[in-house]
Formats: sequence, structure tokens, C-alpha cells
Amino acid sequence: MTAMTDTSGMLASDTDIVRAHLARVTLSAPLSDLEIAECKARIKTLLRERNAILVAHYYTDALLQSLAAETGGLVSDSLEMARFGRDSSASTLVVAGVRFMGETACILSPDKTVLMPTLEATCSLDVACPADRFAEFCDAHPDHTVVVYANTSAAVKARADWVVTSSIAVDVVEHLAAQGKKIIWAPDRHLGAYIKGRTGADMLLWEGACIVHEEFKAKGLIDMRALYPHAAILAHPESPASVLEIADVIGSTTQIIKAAMQMPNSHFIVATDKGIFYKLQQMAPQKTFLIAPTAGHDATCRSCAHCPWMAMNSLERLLHSLETGSNRVSVSSELASRAMAPLQRMLDFSAALKLKVNGKA
Ligand code: 13P
Ligand code: SF4
Repeated sequence: MTAMTDTSGMLASDTDIVRAHLARVTLSAPLSDLEIAECKARIKTLLRERNAILVAHYYTDALLQSLAAETGGLVSDSLEMARFGRDSSASTLVVAGVRFMGETACILSPDKTVLMPTLEATCSLDVACPADRFAEFCDAHPDHTVVVYANTSAAVKARADWVVTSSIAVDVVEHLAAQGKKIIWAPDRHLGAYIKGRTGADMLLWEGACIVHEEFKAKGLIDMRALYPHAAILAHPESPASVLEIADVIGSTTQIIKAAMQMPNSHFIVATDKGIFYKLQQMAPQKTFLIAPTAGHDATCRSCAHCPWMAMNSLERLLHSLETGSNRVSVSSELASRAMAPLQRMLDFSAALKLKVNGKA
């Protein structure tokens, strides 16, 4: 390959790379307040015109969460996102979150158009569980009931007997264990170990992990608790066992928010993605929330406690998708109908559990 020198002495090919990089930086530069207002106004108009509703996860940007709330959409955990999208009368669901959330919406609402700000937002758990390898594993243990986390591809869900989210995983496995079932669990090993510990179920665990939660460190957490002795520790069950052992509350994102609202503590140390702080501060404005430490005593490198794929969701990308109809999620009808059964099982189980808790069954 030949490279020409330009007047600055820089190789032309290098200059192209720098230009391309700058173009990308310019594209992702933060929007001014005026641009944000214009973008939001345009999105609101398009949502109305397209009979669309915005469903956002707690880990997405605060701008997207506020937009979902302002437009009658939903900000919630993965279970409620799935339920709300299915029950909504909108013909288009715009899902701000990661790929598996868009796919789940597609499976549960085959007649709706599902758009996402980006289709590139994946999840380390989904990546860690390729459908072909998982199917081989299940085939090798045919006497096991297959329970998979919602953070998986449609193809993995299609191979499962049950799909669960973190808010209902313990209840479902408890129910299966009571029937003497042996269980294959995938893909999150920390959540799997936590469920196994809580239920005593006979479980084979897949070896995936969440790159965000795996970084929370027990040693740092103990030091932090010494500084804030009255703070309660709230942790998502994707965190390592050493962190969960010292947590006061372990739960899904919604369960974490509920605990923060209900507990009397004024301070909380939170071991989950920091995107949740927007909702936590909204729901309990008089309380103080601190992010759990992501570095141990000897570590020098801290993670940011923010999912890089959730962070790919932006106002501009959302606007682009609504304007052009791009980033439409699709799951083949054959795959969707196979993945629907284990998802429906979870939704039915969750509805029955709610009735039981409310004393109506
Ligand atoms: P929730 O189901 O608690 O919202 O969690 C989803 C997730 O991706 C956590 O990392
Ligand atoms: Fe997946 Fe972790 Fe991101 Fe949740 S926070 S979407 S589990 S990578």
C-alpha cells in the first residue's frame, strides 16, 4: 500500500484516520440545551404520529428516561418492559435498552413494529451464551429443566423451558425445585449461584458474567461501609457472591428502587449500573446514593459501573430510528413462536404470584 505525504508531514492515510475519528467525535459530541429541546420535541411529535410508545430501561440515559415518562411510556426493569410493551395499544414499540429487550418485545408483540435506537447494543451475558453451544450442553443433560435469564438471544430462549428475569428467578426455581426438578441455568454464573444458594435447587450453571456487576469489589465495599456505617447496601444479584454476602438487600433494579424508598436509612451504597441513580434520586430525593466501589485494595483500574451497551442509546439515535424506521428488530416467526412458550410461562407465573401476594388466590 502506498501512502502520500501531505504538507504537514503527516501521511495521507493517517490524516484520513484522524478525520474519520474527528467526524465520529463530532457526531457524538454532547448536545446543547437547545439541541436537546429540539430533539425531544421532534421525538414527541414522531411518537404521536407513528402511534409509538417509548419503553426505557433504568440504565439508559436520564434524557431517555425522562422522555419515556413525559410521553406516557415506561421506565422499568426488563420484566415490566416486556409486560408493558405487550399490553400497550401502540402499534410501534421503541425500546431503549439492549438487544435482548428489543427481541423480547418482538416475540411478545408479533403484530407490533419494534424499533431500537441501535441494534448494536448487546450484553456480555448474551454474548457468553451462543445458541449452538448452549443447545449441545442441554442435549447432554436431557433430564434437566432448562431455565434461562432474559439476558439471552431469542435462539437461546427458544431452547429453554423457562425464561426468567432477576425479579422472579428465585420464585420460579423454588417452584421447580419443589417438584424435584434438576435445573440447567444460563448464562449468569453469579445470579445462578445466588439462586442455588437461596433455593437449594440442584443446578448446573453456565459460566457467563455481566461485565458491569462483576467489577464490584467486596473489600472496597467493606471500607466504604466503615465510612458510612448507617448506609444500607443494595446489590443486583449479578454481582459476585462476596458482594452479595454483605448486601442488606439483593434484588432486581425495581426491587432495589423499592427498597431505597421503603427503608429508613438516609444513605445507600448501590451495587448496580449507575444509570439507576436518576430514578433512585427521583423516587427518594431526600436520600443519598453512593455507587459501590469497583476497585479492590491493590487495584489501580476502576470501571465506570456503567454498561457500555446501555450507553449506546442516545436521543439522536432514537430520533434517527423514528424518522427513518431504521433499527427495526426482527425475530423470525418460527423462532418467535418457540421462544414465546418459556416467556409466556414466566409471565403467567408472575401474574399468579401477584394474585397470591395480594391474597386473591
Ligand atoms: P433487571 O431485570 O433487574 O432490570 O436487570 C437487567 C439487567 O440487564 C441487569 O444488568
Ligand atoms: Fe448485560 Fe450487564 Fe449491560 Fe445488564 S449491565 S445489559 S447484564 S452487560
